[in-house]
Amino acid sequence: MSIQVLVGTGDQALSTQLRTMIAELAEVQLLGVENNSTDLLGIVSTHHEVDIVLLDENIGPQPGHDLIRDIALRTPHVAVVLVSEQLGEEVLSRALEVGARGVLGRSPSLEELSARLDTVAEWSRRMRDLLGTGRAAGPELGGRRGRVIALAGAKGGTGATTIAVQLALGAARAGRSVCLVDMDLQTGDVATYLDMVHRRSVADLVGVASEITGAVLADVLFIHEAGPHVLLAPQEGERAEDVTSSAARQILGVLRSRYEVIIVDCGAFMTEGSVTAIEIADRAVITVTPDLPCLRAAKRMSHLWRRLDVRKPEDVSIVLTRQSRKNEIQPDFAARILGMTPLRTTVPPAFRALEKAVNNGAPIRVEHDGFRTAMRQLGEELGVLPVAAAEPRGGPKKAKAEAV
Ligand SMILES: Nc1ncnc2c1ncn2[C@@H]1O[C@H](COP(=O)(O)OP(=O)(O)OP(=O)(O)O)[C@@H](O)[C@H]1O
Ligand SMILES: [Mg+2]
Repeated sequence: MSIQVLVGTGDQALSTQLRTMIAELAEVQLLGVENNSTDLLGIVSTHHEVDIVLLDENIGPQPGHDLIRDIALRTPHVAVVLVSEQLGEEVLSRALEVGARGVLGRSPSLEELSARLDTVAEWSRRMRDLLGTGRAAGPELGGRRGRVIALAGAKGGTGATTIAVQLALGAARAGRSVCLVDMDLQTGDVATYLDMVHRRSVADLVGVASEITGAVLADVLFIHEAGPHVLLAPQEGERAEDVTSSAARQILGVLRSRYEVIIVDCGAFMTEGSVTAIEIADRAVITVTPDLPCLRAAKRMSHLWRRLDVRKPEDVSIVLTRQSRKNEIQPDFAARILGMTPLRTTVPPAFRALEKAVNNGAPIRVEHDGFRTAMRQLGEELGVLPVAAAEPRGGPKKAKAEAV
């Protein structure tokens, strides 16, 4: 399906240049050029086929940024790309703040234009899905409830975020609609792991928690190119307190009605928001490294949840991370210390592969067979991935632990 673009500019030279370039892009169709903000807004509101607006910042009479805000409010699936003289970080961040999806210079190369249109068209397509015509939208879950998996770290740095991100990517790859929620409200770093920039967060849903519509969600969520929709933690840690237990319950309830899988990264420090996620989750998982202090921390955490009436220890799952045969503590010993049996799947150490994936901003490419196998098995064990029909003859390939 071609990408439908509307151009908004009163500048004749820019109009001609964009027309000429768009004519060269086979996948892109120019719907028209509007030379003032009033006509442009009218066309966008009434022509539902518009995917992208290329908007000259100098369009009048309404200032460009106000117009972007109006377009985002009326038609949240339309991706606005601001065409600007200047391309600094300040210009970009101001444009993103009012709802644009990007900024383009006034004389882009054909490659630049093509790449930008491709990226934002994909965003627009997913946004249309979310708003009601695609698989991520609420109605076609048809009253079914999505599966909530909450992950918490027994201590900081035990791999909770890594696993949350990988499970979300894996579920999306398997064709499931998935929302990844960063409920590590003070120190959440899902955005870094997914190499994404987005200003809206779960805290922005608090004030409207009782009336979250598709459009409100669409405004706050980030749609990652690999599939998962992402609800970030607030950038300002002090806003963690805004996410009360009842707000978290309402927000997760709405997500549950719209997604098949909801993965919640709860971090290692409990807040009202994260405790609520633990309480309502179908599976609550503590990530634990195989060392005594961490095992004891996991035990303390699960006992705390029991005392707070959040969850019974027998209803808590433990996943051992960075587990290899070289460790002194093996799963059966860990089980004795914990007083509960860890999950069958253990996650091998994959230091270099993970470091590379994070540093390259490519979470989807973790070049470590053992780690990838573990993520698949964990996804199956937690019910976020369909269980593979049959193992190859001779049983599953052993997860190869990376030498440390
Ligand atoms: N299986 C693993 N093998 C090796 N390194 C790992 C593994 N899992 C995670 N790491 C690394 O450990 C560090 C911490 O991981 P991660 O951020 O996922 O932990 P966390 O529990 O979310 O920490 P935080 O408490 O900061 O939220 C990262 O550098 C990550 O790449
Ligand atoms: Mg984390």
